[in-house]
Amino acid sequence: MPHESRLSFSREELLANVPVKQPLIVGGVRCHGGFDADGNYHSPRTLWRNPAVRAWQEQHLRTSPLPLVEIPDDAVPPHSISAEQAKFLIREGVREPVVRILTEIAIVEGFGAMIRELPVPPLASFVREDVTATALEHLTRGLFEAHARDEAGWEQEGGHRQMWNAARDAALSNPHISPEIFAEVMARRVPEPAQMFPALDAPVERLLRFMVNVLAIEVFARSTFAWAEDVLSDPAVSDAPVEAGSLIRYIRSDEAPHVEYLRTALSEISARTLYGGGKEFSGKEVVDALMNRTLRAMIRRRLEEQPASMRDVIRRTAKRADVEDIIAHYDALATPWTAPARFVN
Ligand SMILES: [Fe+2]
Ligand SMILES: [Fe+2]
Repeated sequence: MPHESRLSFSREELLANVPVKQPLIVGGVRCHGGFDADGNYHSPRTLWRNPAVRAWQEQHLRTSPLPLVEIPDDAVPPHSISAEQAKFLIREGVREPVVRILTEIAIVEGFGAMIRELPVPPLASFVREDVTATALEHLTRGLFEAHARDEAGWEQEGGHRQMWNAARDAALSNPHISPEIFAEVMARRVPEPAQMFPALDAPVERLLRFMVNVLAIEVFARSTFAWAEDVLSDPAVSDAPVEAGSLIRYIRSDEAPHVEYLRTALSEISARTLYGGGKEFSGKEVVDALMNRTLRAMIRRRLEEQPASMRDVIRRTAKRADVEDIIAHYDALATPWTAPARFVN
């Protein structure tokens, strides 16, 4: 049995699955994860990864006065379209916005494969203190690879990309997928921002910014999961409420290890000293500054850009004379939310 007192693991261990009785098969595609004899779902590659991350978290809390990095609940906006808005549109026969959202989520999950390409400079070249037997030391020894496989699939096994597409196709009975969606997602990708700590080597700040961004995306996804589960499990609007709702729950449980290893590695950075260009920085100062900038940008996108682009999709695809009435009703069903003052410019 995995033992939580260990702090060093091989890549093979961090990629090892909990033995399962039944694989997860969705729409004829073998996906990752599976079910034990009692029918409980087990996320992929968690046999050692989960106990390892718990052990690194305990070590951090034992050796540092800092708590684990956390994105507070009040920083997480509701999903950019509410469950009521989505259900209203589907009932009105305006299905394209929900089809698009689900397709875009699947595309973005597929981008998760890029995590394994992220260059990781030697840790000793920018972290002053020892990093032996930490989550940081294992980023390139299985943690990034496990994450990439979970999101984009691996070899013949589907991952989240395939699972979101399957949930969409089951709940909305194989809708037509507009071929422009992929190009539109690509066009929205934001250019690399200016370095906040130019004394650090660019690849160092890029690595930390990437981890902070992915952690924020994973945590913001909580409201996306709550939304998707609500909409796709509702028999009034979903053609496969049980199958699609279960799939969303499996994906959601697979995301927990991503949040936990990223916050652990960022906590380990926060507890250490970073150096570069003849300067030293407290890791906490760097992580906090990058996190604050990321949260401000993500909140702004959810509150402004995403609702505007959703109205645009409704106008372009509704093909109804009363589309402005539909939009007025849609707007009235939005979930009110105000960003905490510390995240607003
Ligand atoms: Fe995912
Ligand atoms: Fe994830």
